[in-house]
Amino acid sequence: MLQTAQATHGFTYAKALAASEKINWRVEDLIGGERRLDFAKPFMPESLARIGEIGFLDAEARLKLNHIRAHGYLYTFGLVEEFILPFVLDHARPLLAEDDLRTRALLRFASEEAKHIHLFRTFEREFQAGFGTDCAMIGPAEEVGKAVLAHHPLSVALLILQVEWMTQRHYLESIRDNQGIDEQFKSLLRHHWMEEAQHAQLDTLMVEALAENRDARQIEQAVDGYLEIGGMFDGAFKQQAAFDLDALQRATGQVYRAAEAATIVAVQHQAMRWTYLGSGISHPNFLRSVAALSPAQATRLAEAAQAFG
Ligand SMILES: [Fe+2]
Ligand SMILES: [Fe+2]
Repeated sequence: MLQTAQATHGFTYAKALAASEKINWRVEDLIGGERRLDFAKPFMPESLARIGEIGFLDAEARLKLNHIRAHGYLYTFGLVEEFILPFVLDHARPLLAEDDLRTRALLRFASEEAKHIHLFRTFEREFQAGFGTDCAMIGPAEEVGKAVLAHHPLSVALLILQVEWMTQRHYLESIRDNQGIDEQFKSLLRHHWMEEAQHAQLDTLMVEALAENRDARQIEQAVDGYLEIGGMFDGAFKQQAAFDLDALQRATGQVYRAAEAATIVAVQHQAMRWTYLGSGISHPNFLRSVAALSPAQATRLAEAAQAFG
């Protein structure tokens, strides 16, 4: 089964390394100096923000909530990449001398994630300087990272694989519903997408390596662990939706009635479920990797993804 999958996707360390070496953007090319966030425009694509579903919000509140979600995006990706970085280094380390292309591709992957952490933090600082209202966030990132990394490496690798395919979709959706989103934010999604395309390929190889010689029961346990991490994030996103409601009320000076507040939280929780979980779990390339390990587990995940749609 694994052999077939490898033949289908055709990913190799050599190809990922070569593709990565052609891309050389710097954080300062994307944000800072004259490159400022334009707070008159939305930052997040509507397909991820889903603010249109909350019909009673006025134009100011819609824009503010879009910005609050964008801040959450910067923070959440920063948080996720903070545990991807050590995980990739740990995966690379035991075999550093064995395969030069593998070592170089994985170290470049780690270095790009370190750059992305820097990128998201720099955008976050720009955001905070311009937005004017504090946004409370889930975390702390270090604790979340520890909780994730306590799981079996194959469970974590599946999560990372899902995250990388997810970012491919996020950029494509930002173009698809081209609604005049801020140029800097669009550029962030685009530049992230450029490098994550290689990460997704390397993650595919990482998942295959970690799944080698594991029987059906062990694969099932790894998927259990992956779903456990997903469940942990889902709970955190519900909390984040409540924080976002609070930030929205402070940013606009409006206080929503209980039923309206409940709608905002419910719609935004589901929007975050799609943004960070569903758009990755349901990605055909992610499911293809899981199907190569176990068709039954791929079916299980495709069904689980429906709750995050
Ligand atoms: Fe990244
Ligand atoms: Fe990545």
